[in-house]
Amino acid sequence: MRRSSPGQRPVKVAVVGFGYWGPNLVRNIAERSDLELAGLCELDLGRALEFSHRHPSVPAGPELDRFLADEAIDAIVIATPPSTHYELARRALSAGKHVLVEKPLAANPIQAAELVELGEDTGRVLMAGHTFVYSPPVNKVRELIRSGELGDIYFVTSSRMNLGLYQNDGVISDLAPHDISILLHWLARPVVGVNAYGQSIFQRDVPETAFLTLTFEGGVTASVQLSWLAPRKLRQTVVVGSQRMVQYEDTSSDEAVRVYDRGLEFSPAEAPATFGEYRLTYRIGDMVAPRIEAAEPLSLELADFVHSIRTGAQPRSNAALGLEIVRVLEAARSSMERGGAQVALQPSCEWINPEREERCGPTRSM
Ligand SMILES: NC(=O)c1ccc[n+]([C@@H]2O[C@H](COP(=O)([O-])OP(=O)(O)OC[C@H]3O[C@@H](n4cnc5c(N)ncnc54)[C@H](O)[C@@H]3O)[C@@H](O)[C@H]2O)c1
Repeated sequence: MRRSSPGQRPVKVAVVGFGYWGPNLVRNIAERSDLELAGLCELDLGRALEFSHRHPSVPAGPELDRFLADEAIDAIVIATPPSTHYELARRALSAGKHVLVEKPLAANPIQAAELVELGEDTGRVLMAGHTFVYSPPVNKVRELIRSGELGDIYFVTSSRMNLGLYQNDGVISDLAPHDISILLHWLARPVVGVNAYGQSIFQRDVPETAFLTLTFEGGVTASVQLSWLAPRKLRQTVVVGSQRMVQYEDTSSDEAVRVYDRGLEFSPAEAPATFGEYRLTYRIGDMVAPRIEAAEPLSLELADFVHSIRTGAQPRSNAALGLEIVRVLEAARSSMERGGAQVALQPSCEWINPEREERCGPTRSM
Protein backbone atom coordinates (compact mmCIF):
# COMPACT_ATOMS: atom_id res chain seq x y z
CA MET A 1 0.00 0.00 0.00
CA ARG A 2 1.53 3.37 -1.05
CA ARG A 3 0.66 6.47 0.90
CA SER A 4 1.32 10.13 0.23
CA SER A 5 4.50 11.65 1.63
CA PRO A 6 3.98 13.77 4.75
CA GLY A 7 5.73 16.74 3.06
CA GLN A 8 6.53 19.39 5.66
CA ARG A 9 3.78 18.45 8.15
CA PRO A 10 4.89 16.46 11.24
CA VAL A 11 5.47 12.77 10.55
CA LYS A 12 2.89 10.74 12.51
CA VAL A 13 4.52 7.87 14.39
CA ALA A 14 3.34 4.90 16.42
CA VAL A 15 5.88 3.28 18.75
CA VAL A 16 5.94 -0.47 19.41
CA GLY A 17 7.40 -1.46 22.80
CA PHE A 18 7.54 0.62 25.97
CA GLY A 19 10.05 -1.30 28.09
CA TYR A 20 13.49 0.13 28.91
CA TRP A 21 14.32 1.90 25.62
CA GLY A 22 10.82 2.69 24.26
CA PRO A 23 10.24 5.55 26.77
CA ASN A 24 13.40 7.31 25.48
CA LEU A 25 12.07 7.13 21.92
CA VAL A 26 8.62 8.28 23.04
CA ARG A 27 10.10 11.26 24.93
CA ASN A 28 12.21 12.35 21.98
CA ILE A 29 9.34 11.94 19.52
CA ALA A 30 7.05 13.97 21.78
CA GLU A 31 9.70 16.71 22.07
CA ARG A 32 10.36 17.05 18.33
CA SER A 33 8.13 19.41 16.32
CA ASP A 34 8.70 17.44 13.08
CA LEU A 35 7.19 14.31 14.64
CA GLU A 36 3.78 13.59 16.12
CA LEU A 37 3.30 10.76 18.60
CA ALA A 38 0.21 8.98 17.27
CA GLY A 39 0.08 5.68 19.14
CA LEU A 40 1.72 3.04 21.30
CA CYS A 41 1.54 -0.70 20.78
CA GLU A 42 2.60 -2.58 23.93
CA LEU A 43 1.69 -6.14 24.98
CA ASP A 44 2.27 -5.47 28.67
CA LEU A 45 -0.86 -3.85 30.09
CA GLY A 46 0.98 -2.22 33.02
CA ARG A 47 3.46 -0.53 30.67
CA ALA A 48 0.68 0.56 28.31
CA LEU A 49 -1.13 2.13 31.29
CA GLU A 50 2.05 3.90 32.37
CA PHE A 51 2.32 5.36 28.85
CA SER A 52 -1.37 6.43 28.87
CA HIS A 53 -0.82 8.16 32.17
CA ARG A 54 1.88 10.33 30.59
CA HIS A 55 0.20 10.71 27.17
CA PRO A 56 -3.57 10.50 27.85
CA SER A 57 -4.63 11.70 24.40
CA VAL A 58 -2.51 9.14 22.48
CA PRO A 59 -4.15 5.75 21.77
CA ALA A 60 -2.35 2.75 23.32
CA GLY A 61 -2.98 -0.99 23.29
CA PRO A 62 -1.63 -4.41 22.39
CA GLU A 63 -2.82 -4.62 18.74
CA LEU A 64 -0.44 -3.46 16.05
CA ASP A 65 -3.00 -3.91 13.27
CA ARG A 66 -5.08 -0.92 14.33
CA PHE A 67 -2.04 1.35 13.81
CA LEU A 68 -1.02 -0.39 10.57
CA ALA A 69 -4.54 0.09 9.20
CA ASP A 70 -4.60 3.76 10.20
CA GLU A 71 -3.93 5.74 7.00
CA ALA A 72 -2.97 8.80 9.01
CA ILE A 73 0.05 7.06 10.56
CA ASP A 74 3.19 7.45 8.43
CA ALA A 75 5.77 5.51 10.40
CA ILE A 76 6.33 2.78 12.98
CA VAL A 77 9.21 2.84 15.47
CA ILE A 78 10.02 -0.61 16.89
CA ALA A 79 11.61 -0.93 20.35
CA THR A 80 10.87 -4.57 21.20
CA PRO A 81 13.32 -7.46 21.83
CA PRO A 82 15.52 -8.37 18.80
CA SER A 83 13.80 -11.72 18.18
CA THR A 84 10.57 -9.83 17.34
CA HIS A 85 12.09 -7.19 15.00
CA TYR A 86 11.79 -9.10 11.74
CA GLU A 87 8.11 -9.95 12.01
CA LEU A 88 7.06 -6.50 13.27
CA ALA A 89 9.15 -4.62 10.68
CA ARG A 90 7.92 -6.92 7.90
CA ARG A 91 4.30 -6.26 8.81
CA ALA A 92 4.84 -2.51 9.08
CA LEU A 93 6.67 -2.21 5.73
CA SER A 94 4.06 -4.40 4.04
CA ALA A 95 1.38 -2.03 5.35
CA GLY A 96 3.20 0.87 3.62
CA LYS A 97 4.73 2.43 6.75
CA HIS A 98 8.21 3.88 7.09
CA VAL A 99 10.07 1.91 9.75
CA LEU A 100 12.73 2.68 12.31
CA VAL A 101 13.69 -0.56 14.01
CA GLU A 102 15.93 -0.65 17.04
CA LYS A 103 19.26 -2.40 16.85
CA PRO A 104 19.95 -5.09 15.81
CA LEU A 105 17.88 -4.86 12.62
CA ALA A 106 16.94 -8.56 12.83
CA ALA A 107 17.99 -11.76 14.55
CA ASN A 108 19.99 -13.11 11.57
CA PRO A 109 21.34 -11.98 8.17
CA ILE A 110 18.62 -13.78 6.17
CA GLN A 111 15.87 -11.91 7.96
CA ALA A 112 17.81 -8.62 7.82
CA ALA A 113 18.40 -9.01 4.05
CA GLU A 114 14.69 -9.73 3.53
CA LEU A 115 13.80 -6.53 5.35
CA VAL A 116 16.28 -4.51 3.27
CA GLU A 117 14.70 -5.91 0.11
CA LEU A 118 11.18 -5.25 1.36
CA GLY A 119 12.15 -1.64 2.18
CA GLU A 120 13.41 -1.22 -1.39
CA ASP A 121 10.37 -2.93 -2.95
CA THR A 122 7.87 -0.86 -0.98
CA GLY A 123 9.82 2.40 -1.42
CA ARG A 124 9.52 3.03 2.31
CA VAL A 125 12.37 4.18 4.57
CA LEU A 126 13.80 1.33 6.62
CA MET A 127 16.23 2.56 9.21
CA ALA A 128 18.15 0.67 11.90
CA GLY A 129 18.46 2.35 15.31
CA HIS A 130 22.24 2.59 15.62
CA THR A 131 22.13 5.62 17.87
CA PHE A 132 25.89 5.95 18.34
CA VAL A 133 26.46 7.03 14.73
CA TYR A 134 24.61 10.22 15.74
CA SER A 135 26.61 10.79 18.92
CA PRO A 136 28.57 14.09 18.78
CA PRO A 137 31.72 12.62 20.46
CA VAL A 138 31.64 9.62 18.11
CA ASN A 139 31.42 12.00 15.17
CA LYS A 140 34.27 14.11 16.53
CA VAL A 141 36.50 11.00 16.59
CA ARG A 142 35.33 10.13 13.08
CA GLU A 143 36.32 13.62 11.92
CA LEU A 144 39.79 13.14 13.45
CA ILE A 145 40.22 9.77 11.73
CA ARG A 146 38.82 10.81 8.36
CA SER A 147 40.83 14.08 8.22
CA GLY A 148 44.06 12.11 8.70
CA GLU A 149 44.89 13.93 11.93
CA LEU A 150 45.56 10.64 13.72
CA GLY A 151 47.79 9.39 10.89
CA ASP A 152 47.59 5.74 9.88
CA ILE A 153 45.21 3.86 12.16
CA TYR A 154 47.02 0.93 13.78
CA PHE A 155 44.29 -0.55 15.99
CA VAL A 156 41.27 0.18 18.21
CA THR A 157 40.41 -1.20 21.64
CA SER A 158 36.99 -0.92 23.22
CA SER A 159 35.50 -1.89 26.60
CA ARG A 160 31.75 -1.79 27.13
CA MET A 161 31.11 -3.25 30.56
CA ASN A 162 28.63 -2.81 33.35
CA LEU A 163 26.61 -4.74 35.90
CA GLY A 164 24.14 -4.87 33.02
CA LEU A 165 20.50 -5.84 32.51
CA TYR A 166 20.39 -9.57 31.77
CA GLN A 167 18.68 -10.31 28.42
CA ASN A 168 18.02 -13.69 26.86
CA ASP A 169 19.47 -12.60 23.50
CA GLY A 170 22.95 -12.48 25.11
CA VAL A 171 25.56 -9.76 25.55
CA ILE A 172 26.76 -9.84 21.90
CA SER A 173 23.32 -9.02 20.52
CA ASP A 174 22.81 -6.41 23.26
CA LEU A 175 26.12 -4.52 23.26
CA ALA A 176 28.21 -5.44 20.20
CA PRO A 177 25.94 -3.54 17.73
CA HIS A 178 27.11 -0.31 19.42
CA ASP A 179 30.81 -1.03 18.92
CA ILE A 180 30.38 -2.47 15.44
CA SER A 181 28.33 0.53 14.30
CA ILE A 182 30.89 2.96 15.74
CA LEU A 183 33.82 1.12 14.15
CA LEU A 184 32.16 0.87 10.72
CA HIS A 185 31.23 4.55 10.92
CA TRP A 186 34.78 5.55 11.88
CA LEU A 187 36.76 3.34 9.55
CA ALA A 188 34.29 3.28 6.60
CA ARG A 189 35.50 -0.13 5.48
CA PRO A 190 34.06 -3.59 5.90
CA VAL A 191 34.86 -6.24 8.48
CA VAL A 192 36.59 -9.20 6.81
CA GLY A 193 37.23 -11.45 9.80
CA VAL A 194 35.78 -12.03 13.27
CA ASN A 195 37.11 -13.98 16.24
CA ALA A 196 34.87 -14.24 19.29
CA TYR A 197 35.12 -15.90 22.67
CA GLY A 198 32.16 -15.88 25.02
CA GLN A 199 31.37 -17.07 28.50
CA SER A 200 27.91 -18.25 29.58
CA ILE A 201 27.85 -18.54 33.34
CA PHE A 202 24.17 -18.59 34.27
CA GLN A 203 22.37 -19.96 31.19
CA ARG A 204 23.72 -22.16 28.42
CA ASP A 205 24.10 -20.27 25.12
CA VAL A 206 23.45 -16.88 26.73
CA PRO A 207 26.92 -15.31 27.00
CA GLU A 208 27.18 -12.56 29.61
CA THR A 209 30.76 -11.77 28.59
CA ALA A 210 32.37 -11.77 25.17
CA PHE A 211 35.72 -10.81 23.65
CA LEU A 212 35.72 -9.97 19.96
CA THR A 213 38.54 -9.31 17.53
CA LEU A 214 37.37 -7.65 14.34
CA THR A 215 39.66 -7.40 11.32
CA PHE A 216 38.79 -4.68 8.82
CA GLU A 217 39.65 -4.55 5.15
CA GLY A 218 43.13 -3.04 4.96
CA GLY A 219 44.29 -4.75 8.14
CA VAL A 220 43.14 -2.52 11.00
CA THR A 221 42.02 -4.63 13.97
CA ALA A 222 39.69 -3.82 16.85
CA SER A 223 39.53 -5.65 20.14
CA VAL A 224 36.14 -5.35 21.83
CA GLN A 225 35.34 -6.46 25.39
CA LEU A 226 31.67 -6.77 26.32
CA SER A 227 30.23 -7.76 29.67
CA TRP A 228 27.21 -7.53 31.95
CA LEU A 229 29.45 -8.65 34.79
CA ALA A 230 31.63 -5.74 35.85
CA PRO A 231 31.81 -3.72 39.07
CA ARG A 232 31.21 -0.37 37.36
CA LYS A 233 30.17 1.13 34.07
CA LEU A 234 33.04 1.33 31.63
CA ARG A 235 32.55 2.66 28.10
CA GLN A 236 35.98 3.39 26.79
CA THR A 237 37.45 3.24 23.30
CA VAL A 238 41.03 3.99 22.31
CA VAL A 239 42.12 4.59 18.72
CA VAL A 240 45.85 4.33 18.15
CA GLY A 241 47.23 6.10 15.10
CA SER A 242 50.73 6.88 13.88
CA GLN A 243 50.36 10.63 14.62
CA ARG A 244 47.89 10.83 17.52
CA MET A 245 45.97 8.59 19.88
CA VAL A 246 42.38 9.22 20.94
CA GLN A 247 40.47 8.12 23.99
CA TYR A 248 36.69 8.28 23.79
CA GLU A 249 34.76 7.75 26.99
CA ASP A 250 31.01 7.58 26.64
CA THR A 251 30.38 7.98 30.37
CA SER A 252 32.43 11.15 30.71
CA SER A 253 30.30 14.26 30.08
CA ASP A 254 33.16 16.74 29.72
CA GLU A 255 36.31 15.62 27.99
CA ALA A 256 34.49 12.69 26.31
CA VAL A 257 37.18 12.83 23.62
CA ARG A 258 40.84 13.28 24.46
CA VAL A 259 43.43 13.57 21.72
CA TYR A 260 46.95 12.65 22.79
CA ASP A 261 50.04 13.66 20.88
CA ARG A 262 51.80 10.50 21.97
CA GLY A 263 53.57 7.64 20.31
CA LEU A 264 56.69 5.66 19.68
CA GLU A 265 59.21 6.42 17.02
CA PHE A 266 61.55 3.76 15.90
CA SER A 267 64.27 5.31 13.79
CA PRO A 268 67.55 3.85 12.61
CA ALA A 269 70.82 5.30 13.82
CA GLU A 270 73.09 6.12 10.91
CA ALA A 271 73.69 2.96 8.84
CA PRO A 272 72.46 0.45 11.48
CA ALA A 273 74.22 -2.89 11.28
CA THR A 274 72.13 -4.65 13.91
CA PHE A 275 68.64 -4.36 15.39
CA GLY A 276 70.18 -2.83 18.56
CA GLU A 277 71.32 0.17 16.60
CA TYR A 278 67.75 1.36 15.94
CA ARG A 279 66.75 4.24 18.19
CA LEU A 280 63.45 4.12 20.06
CA THR A 281 62.07 7.50 21.10
CA TYR A 282 58.88 8.27 22.98
CA ARG A 283 56.78 11.23 21.89
CA ILE A 284 54.90 12.58 24.88
CA GLY A 285 53.18 15.77 23.78
CA ASP A 286 50.01 17.57 24.81
CA MET A 287 46.53 16.23 25.40
CA VAL A 288 43.68 18.25 23.90
CA ALA A 289 39.98 17.72 24.72
CA PRO A 290 38.04 19.22 21.79
CA ARG A 291 34.76 21.00 22.44
CA ILE A 292 31.84 18.73 21.65
CA GLU A 293 28.38 19.90 20.62
CA ALA A 294 25.75 19.07 23.26
CA ALA A 295 22.92 17.23 21.50
CA GLU A 296 20.98 14.08 22.28
CA PRO A 297 21.95 11.39 19.74
CA LEU A 298 18.47 9.84 19.76
CA SER A 299 16.90 13.15 18.77
CA LEU A 300 19.44 13.52 15.93
CA GLU A 301 18.63 9.96 14.83
CA LEU A 302 14.91 10.79 14.71
CA ALA A 303 15.68 13.98 12.74
CA ASP A 304 17.54 11.85 10.17
CA PHE A 305 14.53 9.50 9.98
CA VAL A 306 12.24 12.45 9.22
CA HIS A 307 14.73 13.84 6.68
CA SER A 308 14.80 10.48 4.87
CA ILE A 309 11.02 10.21 4.84
CA ARG A 310 10.70 13.73 3.43
CA THR A 311 13.51 13.64 0.89
CA GLY A 312 14.10 9.98 0.09
CA ALA A 313 17.79 10.38 1.09
CA GLN A 314 19.52 7.43 2.77
CA PRO A 315 19.70 7.88 6.55
CA ARG A 316 23.15 7.62 8.12
CA SER A 317 21.97 4.57 10.05
CA ASN A 318 20.58 2.97 6.92
CA ALA A 319 19.15 -0.52 6.55
CA ALA A 320 22.27 -1.77 4.70
CA LEU A 321 24.36 -0.72 7.72
CA GLY A 322 21.88 -2.62 9.91
CA LEU A 323 22.33 -5.71 7.71
CA GLU A 324 26.12 -5.41 7.78
CA ILE A 325 26.06 -5.29 11.59
CA VAL A 326 23.80 -8.36 11.73
CA ARG A 327 26.29 -10.18 9.43
CA VAL A 328 29.14 -9.34 11.82
CA LEU A 329 27.05 -10.46 14.83
CA GLU A 330 26.30 -13.76 13.12
CA ALA A 331 30.01 -14.25 12.35
CA ALA A 332 30.78 -13.57 16.03
CA ARG A 333 28.27 -16.21 17.14
CA SER A 334 29.65 -18.69 14.67
CA SER A 335 33.24 -18.02 15.79
CA MET A 336 32.18 -18.47 19.42
CA GLU A 337 30.69 -21.87 18.59
CA ARG A 338 34.02 -22.81 17.00
CA GLY A 339 36.07 -21.87 20.06
CA GLY A 340 37.16 -18.48 18.74
CA ALA A 341 38.35 -19.58 15.30
CA GLN A 342 38.36 -16.76 12.78
CA VAL A 343 35.24 -16.50 10.62
CA ALA A 344 35.87 -14.76 7.30
CA LEU A 345 33.27 -12.36 5.91
CA GLN A 346 32.83 -11.41 2.27
CA PRO A 347 33.54 -7.67 2.24
CA SER A 348 30.43 -5.64 1.55
CA CYS A 349 30.36 -1.89 1.01
CA GLU A 350 26.61 -1.56 0.41
CA TRP A 351 26.19 0.17 3.76
CA ILE A 352 28.62 2.97 2.95
CA ASN A 353 26.45 5.92 2.13
CA PRO A 354 27.31 7.13 -1.37
CA GLU A 355 25.66 10.47 -0.63
CA ARG A 356 28.33 11.07 1.99
CA GLU A 357 31.04 10.44 -0.58
CA GLU A 358 32.77 7.64 1.24
CA ARG A 359 34.39 4.67 -0.36
CA CYS A 360 35.81 1.34 0.63
CA GLY A 361 39.57 1.05 0.73
CA PRO A 362 42.43 0.56 3.15
CA THR A 363 42.91 3.01 6.05
CA ARG A 364 46.61 2.38 5.95
CA SER A 365 49.03 0.70 3.67
CA MET A 366 50.18 -2.62 5.06
N1 LIG B 1 19.81 2.37 20.58
C1 LIG B 1 20.15 2.12 21.82
O1 LIG B 1 21.06 2.73 22.37
C2 LIG B 1 19.40 1.08 22.59
C3 LIG B 1 19.51 1.01 23.98
C4 LIG B 1 18.79 0.02 24.65
C5 LIG B 1 18.00 -0.88 23.95
N2 LIG B 1 17.94 -0.78 22.59
C6 LIG B 1 17.13 -1.74 21.79
O2 LIG B 1 15.76 -1.48 22.04
C7 LIG B 1 15.02 -2.68 21.91
C8 LIG B 1 14.19 -2.89 23.16
O3 LIG B 1 15.07 -3.07 24.25
P1 LIG B 1 14.56 -2.88 25.74
O4 LIG B 1 15.77 -2.95 26.58
O5 LIG B 1 13.67 -1.69 25.82
O6 LIG B 1 13.69 -4.21 25.94
P2 LIG B 1 12.56 -4.43 27.05
O7 LIG B 1 12.40 -5.90 27.14
O8 LIG B 1 12.84 -3.63 28.26
O9 LIG B 1 11.23 -3.81 26.39
C9 LIG B 1 10.61 -4.37 25.28
C10 LIG B 1 9.11 -4.08 25.36
O10 LIG B 1 8.50 -4.54 24.16
C11 LIG B 1 7.25 -5.14 24.50
N3 LIG B 1 6.91 -6.08 23.44
C12 LIG B 1 7.51 -7.25 23.15
N4 LIG B 1 6.95 -7.82 22.05
C13 LIG B 1 5.98 -6.96 21.63
C14 LIG B 1 5.07 -6.96 20.55
N5 LIG B 1 5.03 -7.98 19.67
N6 LIG B 1 4.20 -5.92 20.43
C15 LIG B 1 4.22 -4.91 21.32
N7 LIG B 1 5.06 -4.85 22.39
C16 LIG B 1 5.95 -5.85 22.53
C17 LIG B 1 7.49 -5.79 25.84
O11 LIG B 1 6.28 -5.99 26.54
C18 LIG B 1 8.41 -4.77 26.51
O12 LIG B 1 7.69 -3.81 27.25
C19 LIG B 1 16.05 -3.79 21.66
O13 LIG B 1 16.13 -4.04 20.29
C20 LIG B 1 17.34 -3.18 22.17
O14 LIG B 1 18.47 -3.72 21.52
C21 LIG B 1 18.60 0.18 21.91
